[in-house]
Parts: sequence; structure tokens; C-alpha cells
Amino acid sequence: MCGIIAYTGHRPATPIIIEGLKRLEYRGYDSAGIAFCLQNKLSVIKTEGKLSNLEQKLNSQEVLLNTSGIGHTRWATHGLPTTQNAHPHLSQNGRFALVHNGIIENFKELKKDLISKGITFTSDTDTEVLVQLIAYYVDKGNSILQAIQKSLNQVKGSYAFALIECSQPQTIWAGRCSSPLILGKGQGENFIASDIPAFLPYTKEVIFLEDYEIAEITPSQIKLFSLSHLTPIARETVLIHWDIQAAQKEGYKHFMLKEIFEQPQVIENCLRGRIDASKQTIIIPELNDIPIPSRLKIVACGTSYHAGLWAKYLLEDIAKIPVEVEIASEFRYRESLLDRDSWVMVISQSGETADTLAGLRLAKEKKATVIGLCNVIGSSIARESDITIYTQAGPEISVASTKAMCSQMITLLLLTLFWAKQKQIISQQTINSFIKQLVTLPEQLKNNLTAYHQKAKELTPKYAWAKSFFYLGRGIYYPLALEGALKLKEISYIHAEGYAAGEMKHGPIALIDPEFPTFALAPKDNLLPKIKSNLQEVQARGGKIIALTEPDALLNVDDTWFMPRSQHPFTSFFVLPALQLFAYETAIYLGKDVDQPRNLAKSVTVE
Ligand code: M6R
Repeated sequence: MCGIIAYTGHRPATPIIIEGLKRLEYRGYDSAGIAFCLQNKLSVIKTEGKLSNLEQKLNSQEVLLNTSGIGHTRWATHGLPTTQNAHPHLSQNGRFALVHNGIIENFKELKKDLISKGITFTSDTDTEVLVQLIAYYVDKGNSILQAIQKSLNQVKGSYAFALIECSQPQTIWAGRCSSPLILGKGQGENFIASDIPAFLPYTKEVIFLEDYEIAEITPSQIKLFSLSHLTPIARETVLIHWDIQAAQKEGYKHFMLKEIFEQPQVIENCLRGRIDASKQTIIIPELNDIPIPSRLKIVACGTSYHAGLWAKYLLEDIAKIPVEVEIASEFRYRESLLDRDSWVMVISQSGETADTLAGLRLAKEKKATVIGLCNVIGSSIARESDITIYTQAGPEISVASTKAMCSQMITLLLLTLFWAKQKQIISQQTINSFIKQLVTLPEQLKNNLTAYHQKAKELTPKYAWAKSFFYLGRGIYYPLALEGALKLKEISYIHAEGYAAGEMKHGPIALIDPEFPTFALAPKDNLLPKIKSNLQEVQARGGKIIALTEPDALLNVDDTWFMPRSQHPFTSFFVLPALQLFAYETAIYLGKDVDQPRNLAKSVTVE
């Protein structure tokens, strides 16, 4: 998964491309590059490492003369993250430059064939095959569109690409299959990017390119063609309501911190239009006239999977809908026993996660009804689901997902209440009480976040030495314990395991010693006595404990972190930011790169 941006218009293109790449850097950051045409000659400037390395290389006047170009930030899949393997890649004849996101699975066969025809390769990437193949077909007398068509018909795998040719400096070609690519329509300028924030300062009018379509853009025109017959396609533009502030740091040191602090606003956005205060009802228009699932299978990855696990407790308890939750990469490769009566919910912030998308497609093949819970508008999962419910978190830039989970949890809670009401198994009084707590939640959370941040800062110097951590929770807090451990692992690189507290004594407790601390999720509920005894077992082995709890819970542990008192399941919304801030501050304390953790990328569009 990589980030692509392309611009053609009337302004200097390089600063626009670099600015766009900065907003796409979450998709990959091991090397970066740009290409543009000047006086019928292609210039390619690229380098390994972060975008700042590329910026240092771009300090000549020449890079301000071009008014079109393509840029790329890479997350390596084939070939080491070196300058040689960085994109853009050039064709042997120097006529074409191309940037690509995805994986060309049959690149070895294609490369062998091209080498046998006398073409020399300069990188180890799968991408170079595509640009060489297109140039080869053009050399054989095809038009550029025909050459793209012929090449893509030979390619197996996933791709989103942007291509330029030296004699037509203002024209850019693009295509996609299973990797995102969005076109931005401006005034006398047009854009192509992997994600909307890349061009959001310039336009909010977008066109979603579909799989097996090719785009040709100039400053004044956007043309779409079908890959199969190169027939022109008409597509409406869509107006996006995101604002650019949402895609900038706005004074926060990191996107992760900003996104943690945005959660009260995110909750408000999720509730907007979903609660009719006068009638005290939950409104989910997407589900009007749709039958209530008798069972539900939830399929997702990473943090979204944890949100699904969390929702299982609610959907079963409140809406009495049996739920199975499965990791998408497992689900997609086993006998799923689905049929036309099955209901599958896929949850994904990006809407592009390859395993989740494959799970969705498998479910559809089996004729199941698919509900997609997605944040990114127009993403593949959003478009391919039978019913799409947007989670309204706004652009999430930090690789470590925070506000997206909060938005998924709120949406899943609303769905639970909606279905319970439809089934007539919840009283109006209970609905009223939920609505009351939902609408006051943003303010309550906002009032606590600064103190939370302070508490996280206080605790981290005492625990950041640890090589390993346990996160323990019971019931609805067990999925949150998994999420706490994932956050700590991915940004601080401290090994952490989330565990159901009651399961500790079945093996993991053997690991406890004074060097192996535990972060316990211990709200004051009916399971508190149980978790207290689990924590005593930890203490008896010398393990240090931080307990996240509520006033009066009286826990005799090394450190206590008090949340405001709240009711089930709302306590979860006070647990989540504490876990996020603890991981954030630990990573800061250890000097790690929070927004761009090693080896990770924001949306995992490859297997
Ligand atoms: O975009 P998705 O929600 O489908 O992404 C799923 C995971 O890749 C994602 O949640 C990942 O685990 C995050 N890095 C967690 O912070």
C-alpha cells in the first residue's frame, strides 16, 4: 500500500504534489519520488526514506517550472526500500514514468518475457513491469490508451497507477483494480490520488474511478473509459463535505494525538441525524424496510475487528442477535457455511483492507447480505456492500487507529438499539436513557481528555522500561484490552498481550514477575469482584499493576487511573482514550515515530 498523487493544471505542480504526499504519507513512508515533463524530457527525482529526504533533493528552481506531474510515497512489497526501487519508474526508452499502488502477482513471468524481448530492468519491483509493458505496446504502434488496455489485460493482481508521457506533459493516465484511486475535479486543474485529503485544499468535487476503468486527465477534462472496450463512461461528480482542517495537525504534535482529542466531536458527528430527540428514537435510514438479521457474522481486521468483538456483547445482550466475529484473513480462506439467508457485516475504517474486501466478496458470492460499516466515503467496501453505513469519523491519518474505533463503537451501539427496538425487546424508557447518555457523552469525554493526557504522561516514565505488558479485561472490556495491547505494540514496540482476565490462570500467569506489568480494565460493574481476584493473583507473583477504574472501586494496586463514573456500556468510551493516550505517551517517552511506526501502513491493501 502506497500513496499516489498526480496533478495537471496551471500552478507549479511540485509543491502541490509534495503537499499531497505529506497527507498520504500514512500509506507508506519508506521511499518517495516525483516525475514531471519539461521540454519533452521526463525528470524523475526520488530517494529512500521519508518524504523530508525527497524535499531536500528538490531544492532547485527547475522543480517549480512544471505544471503537471506524478508523485508517490512507498510501502515496500517487492524489492527493498531503496532509491532504485522507489517510484516513479521509467520505461527503458525514457518516454513513460509511472507510480503504482498494489501488487502485480505475475510480474516475474511478465518480466521474463520482456527481458527476452530485449528490455532491461533497473529495479526489483513488480511495478516496473507495468511501465515497461505499456512502453512496449506503444512501440509496437498502439495508442497510449490501447497500450494501457493491452498491458492491464495481462496483469494479475491489484493496481492503482498514474502514468505520464514525455511528449504530452499536461496529460495523465490512470487506472485501478482493487486499489483505491480518486479523481479530483478543479477549475482548470485536475487531480488523481489514493485518498481525498491529498487534494482537499484545492477541490471537494470528486469522481470515484471504479475497478477496470481507465482515466485520462488534462487541466480542462476528465475522461473515463472501460478497460474492456475503451468505451467512454459518464460519471457524476460527488461533493465531499470533509474540511481541510480535519486533514491537518492543527497545532497537535502528532495526528494520533489530534485524532484522540477529536473523539468527542466524532461522537457528535456519528449521532447527527441518527437520533430523533423529539420522538426519542434511533434513526438508521439505511436499514429502513430491511429485515432484522436473525444471526450476524462480523468480519474485520485489527482495530475494526476489536470493535466487532465489542459489539458482539451488545448485540447479543440487548438486541438478542447471535453474533460471530471473525478475523477477515481467516474467514476468507475457510468454509464459511453462508447462504442467501446469512447476514455478514464487514467493518473497515479505510474500506480498502484487502482481507476484509475479500471476505465481503466471498460473502456476496455465497449470496449473503452484506452490511458495510465504513469510514472512507466511496471506498471499495462502501461501494460493494449491499447496505453501507458510514461511521463519520472524518479522515483518519495516524497509522494507529483511534477515533475510527470510537465511531465504529457508537455506530454499532446505535445499530444494536435500532434492532432491539424493531424487535420490540427494549422498553421506550431504556431507549430514552440510552439517548440521554449518548447526547451527553461528547461533553463528558471532552471534559476529561486533558486530565487523561496528564495521567498518561505521569504513568509512562514508571512503566516504559517494560519489555512486555498484559492488558486484562472481562466482558465488554476484553476486546478493549486487546485494543490497548495492539496500540502499545504498534507505536511503542513493547510486546503486549490482551487477555480475558479469567483466562490468565490457564497459562499466561506463568509469565508474571516484577518486570512484567499489567494494565487492568476494572470499571465498577458486576465483574469487578472477579477482576479484583485476578489482580490479586498477579500481585502474588510480584506483578505491577495499573488499574483503570471508577471512583470508590477501591483497588489496592501500584497505580490507579480514575475514569468518571458512567454506566455500562458507556464506560467503554472512557476506557478507549485512556488506552490510546497511554500507548501514545509511552511511544513519545521512548522516542518513537508515533504517526509513522516502523513496518506499518495505514490501509493494508495487500495480503
Ligand atoms: O481500515 P481498516 O479498519 O480495515 O484497517 C484494519 C486494520 O489494518 C487497522 O485497524 C490496523 O490494525 C491499525 N493499524 C490499528 O491501529
